[in-house]
Amino acid sequence: MKVADLQIPEELKEVTLRSCIAELYPPQEEAVLAGVLDGKNLVLASPTASGKTLIAELAGLKHVLERNGKVIYLSPLRALASEKYDEFKKYCSLRKKDGKRVTVGISTGDYDQADPWLQRNDIIVTTNEKADSLLRHRAKWMEEITLVVADEIHLLNEAERGPTLEVVLARLMQVSPETQILALSATINNVDEIAAWLKAQYVITEWRPVTLKEGVLLNDEIQYKDGDARKIDKKTRYPAINLVLNTIKNGGQALVFASTRKNAASAAKQIAEHTSEIISKPIKRTLEHEAEHILNAGERTRISENLADLVKCGTAFHHAGLAGAHRKLIEDLFRQGKIKVLTATPTLAFGVNLPARTVVIQDYRRYEAGYGYYPIAVLEYKQMAGRAGRPKYDKVGEAILIAKTADEADYLMDSYILAKPERIWSRLAVEKIIRGHVLATVASDFAKTENGVYEFFAKTFYAHQYDIKAIRSLIAKILQYLNKEEMLIINGENILATKFGKRVSELYIDPASAVVIRDALQTQPPDLTDFSLLHLIAHTPDMGAPMRPYSNELDQIAAAMEEHRQELFTQPPSEWEDHFAYEEFLAEIKTATVLKNWIEEATEETLIERFHVQPGDLYKTIENAKWLLHATDELAALFKCKAILPLTSELLERVSKGIKKELLPIVKLEGVGRVRGRIIYNAGYKTIEDIKHASIEDLTNLPLIGPRVAKRIKEQVGGFVKKEDWENLNKGEEWKQRALTEY
Ligand SMILES: Nc1ncnc2c1ncn2[C@@H]1O[C@H](COP(=O)(O)OP(=O)(O)OP(=O)(O)O)[C@@H](O)[C@H]1O
Ligand SMILES: [Mg+2]
Repeated sequence: MKVADLQIPEELKEVTLRSCIAELYPPQEEAVLAGVLDGKNLVLASPTASGKTLIAELAGLKHVLERNGKVIYLSPLRALASEKYDEFKKYCSLRKKDGKRVTVGISTGDYDQADPWLQRNDIIVTTNEKADSLLRHRAKWMEEITLVVADEIHLLNEAERGPTLEVVLARLMQVSPETQILALSATINNVDEIAAWLKAQYVITEWRPVTLKEGVLLNDEIQYKDGDARKIDKKTRYPAINLVLNTIKNGGQALVFASTRKNAASAAKQIAEHTSEIISKPIKRTLEHEAEHILNAGERTRISENLADLVKCGTAFHHAGLAGAHRKLIEDLFRQGKIKVLTATPTLAFGVNLPARTVVIQDYRRYEAGYGYYPIAVLEYKQMAGRAGRPKYDKVGEAILIAKTADEADYLMDSYILAKPERIWSRLAVEKIIRGHVLATVASDFAKTENGVYEFFAKTFYAHQYDIKAIRSLIAKILQYLNKEEMLIINGENILATKFGKRVSELYIDPASAVVIRDALQTQPPDLTDFSLLHLIAHTPDMGAPMRPYSNELDQIAAAMEEHRQELFTQPPSEWEDHFAYEEFLAEIKTATVLKNWIEEATEETLIERFHVQPGDLYKTIENAKWLLHATDELAALFKCKAILPLTSELLERVSKGIKKELLPIVKLEGVGRVRGRIIYNAGYKTIEDIKHASIEDLTNLPLIGPRVAKRIKEQVGGFVKKEDWENLNKGEEWKQRALTEY
């Protein structure tokens, strides 16, 4: 089927043709025949790299151009959301019926916002969580949505995040029953069941534009699924490294999936020892330059130094422990072909388009504390394998599992390569997961009676799979809990959310976290300090992944707990009566201590060394702390806790920036973060007024302040600048200049 023959506006065809797509792939053709461009609901289940996004793009643009419709694109990950946003932007040159150009927006952060500015956009890309929070705020424009695209629908199966996706879809179906739904996935077994839930047609195909050869490597030989076999040169004693080197030698790039961050980093180190010899001199020179970029993006730490060293050898690692800026740089370098080998945890397993001719799956097992090793799901294997051989980059791809024995090789062939992915199950019926959704159902007026609540949950995938009766008693129990905690008022058959309940739902926090915060606000420790609040938020279930002390830190953290005892809202449990709770408590104390060190301006390197946290985890904790301090601030306002209010808002700013109180006024300047702020302050410029009186020369004489930053600062503070100073600035020594990012 040719693009030229499709029933879509001519100018849409032109944009598609300009991106070198003239003919539809067979799965795309089937989707069109199933009526996706005529407004029919569809579940499109076709292999990785088979072009599912294009179907979403064409259907979406048809809505916008022909029907004045609005599209929401739900993505499970922020990285994927931004890739899709970039893809949709190519349509912004098109004009709608009213003559205005098509607009695309993205919103993935800040859960306590209705983001009314999104209203202006025709296509809106969000994460599932952001969509859920927008629904809780009853963002008006959501009622105007005419097409919902749910990418990677198999996420329904994920314990933590699946329920949000199913609630979002159920709510969108409730808000506008006429909305078209398009669900995309490569790897689902029970497509028919998901389609029945969504009242959709479905298309299942096995077609892939680029052949993906799946196989198992044992010693120096790969055995492929199709019976083929091939030998790999034995350059080292590690088969996986030999395979990677073989790919590079033949002009390809390789992506190696490791089971842990540590394994990803150590595999990269081992591989880099060999790649450095293979890459050409000109690429090496570019990589030296890129390594400098990595060191200059954010604070210098041992991790960034390690990463920069590896990048010089054409290899890098990628995992959630890396700073966001580093992750993005590494992804871009791999896309540009400068980095030849990338080792990663499964953070890169879903949806992304990367130039990996070979994907190596080093380990098919995962470790979970308290659970031990378990083999990964077939679904996860298929997703990782599917990153190889993407049409934009390669003509063929291979995905290889590594076996240590012949027995294991047989097992891997049978259990992964030849296996069908598992069934998708709803994970909704877990109290901790569902209680926020029950509250939101009432607080955002999706239901006004107990029966109304059951009716809403009857629309979920869970009810479709199991029957609503299976969670009725759980929902009833949660309603009682929310009533007892004064978030809901149950009056006969009618249910109403209190102000507290409404605010909790909008703040997007777990009702159990809200109870912890509210109860604390009504008491007060003998000494109310920053640490009191930092521990309070660390004590809520929403802080997530507690920072467990390593055994050699236990004494130090226990000592910190004693030192701060008078400041705590909650007293520690007894070590002897409930050892588990005691250890949890120590983890909270560690989290609070790390945050405290952060606002005392400890460098990232110090935090990594002192507490063994990685930058990515540190940023995640800081993000969570900001969100929970915002919630505490809002609840303190609601309950009129005048003693706490000034503390929370100040602490929120300090945690956002990682600074002592004295830097608060000057970090308000754009381009001035914790590092530059400290330099400026220590040079004697303690207020905006002081900086106003500083000359440009005074500022550029400071470390890390180049002419551009100095100019930017002066523009913001005002004050007199001599004409020749401005002129000199333009000629200024650029070598002192670092990126104008916050620093
Ligand atoms: N008809 C086509 N002709 C040529 N290239 C195409 C066509 N359709 C899509 N592509 C290209 O194929 C690549 C893969 O597409 P896409 O990312 O949509 O795959 P996908 O099916 O969503 O895979 P995954 O399941 O891994 O997310 C993209 O680079 C896209 O530009
Ligand atoms: Mg995709």
